[in-house]
Amino acid sequence: MNLKNRNLLTLLDFTPEEIKYFLDLAKRLKKEKKEGIPHQVLKGKNIVLLFEKDSTRTRCAFEVAAYDLGMNATYIGSSGSQMGKKESIKDTARVLGRMFDGIEYRGYKQETVECLAKYSKVPVWNGLTEKFHPTQILADFLTIEEEKGHLNGIKFAYLGDGRYNMGNSYMVGSAKMGIDFRMVGPKELWPSDDLISKCKEIAKKTGAKITLTENIDEGVKDCDVISTDVWVSMGEDPNVWEERIQLLKPYQVNKELMAKAKEDAIFIHCLPSFHNLETTVGMDVYNKFGLNGLEVTEEVFEGKASKVFDEAENRLHTIKAVIYATMVEE
Ligand code: CP
Ligand code: NVA
Repeated sequence: MNLKNRNLLTLLDFTPEEIKYFLDLAKRLKKEKKEGIPHQVLKGKNIVLLFEKDSTRTRCAFEVAAYDLGMNATYIGSSGSQMGKKESIKDTARVLGRMFDGIEYRGYKQETVECLAKYSKVPVWNGLTEKFHPTQILADFLTIEEEKGHLNGIKFAYLGDGRYNMGNSYMVGSAKMGIDFRMVGPKELWPSDDLISKCKEIAKKTGAKITLTENIDEGVKDCDVISTDVWVSMGEDPNVWEERIQLLKPYQVNKELMAKAKEDAIFIHCLPSFHNLETTVGMDVYNKFGLNGLEVTEEVFEGKASKVFDEAENRLHTIKAVIYATMVEE
């Protein structure tokens, strides 16, 4: 398998074998790290991390992965560079490509990460756009493999906002990896028809099943994995909260919903999550709408089915695998 110089913009661009390669490599790198075996194979290389939106996990995973691989990482936040304001993305890409050996981008538009990839001539990794969050899916799939031993045939339900980065990406990843995927939420928030047909086509070859339903009992029945995401994502108008709460409240992951899945079902969430009143946004929503816990209740989040912190740790190992595979010749 040679993935050197490839971009990771969406998992649509990767075969099931290539995705498996990332996951197996992540397992190896995780084991080596736990055993204290260094893997500083990219000494002298430099990468840049572009963040138009905030991040805890993705930023830290890229930085720690870079340092573990012996590289230097430069962080650029939403202000402090010329990008997009005085300089086009195309020009920025050509400048950064002359100085860095790889570029990570998190921001508003999938087109921006595509433009960086087109013009920089170095590997570009998507750290989240409005459309896709591919490195998150790798971490989630690694977590599922660790818990359940395999991905193929896993019954996976995603509840909530289906048409944004996490819903789209879970559907794509599931189609690729032969998962029995259920998108459970209101029709208004399902992925685009175009993406649904693409995934159904992929599923024909991989044995995956793609179901979209508004019915919770049908969607969650016999599931091995339950997942959800925030109801309003970064970059969305805060005025959509009211409408979103109305649409998505029935799809909250709570004890009753978990009881409809398999007894040993696990709960995962990309995080950050609104499950109590310990955040400013959680408190604002509580003051306006009286809800204590949004997409998932405190009970499920803190319960024994919840694997969210293993999943968060796996961001590091999978992101390291992506950097390794696209920068080191195997
Ligand atoms: N899951 C995730 O991408 O988290 P951050 O926003 O903290 O990077
Ligand atoms: N859908 C969320 C994911 C955060 C990791 C957002 O875009 O804000």
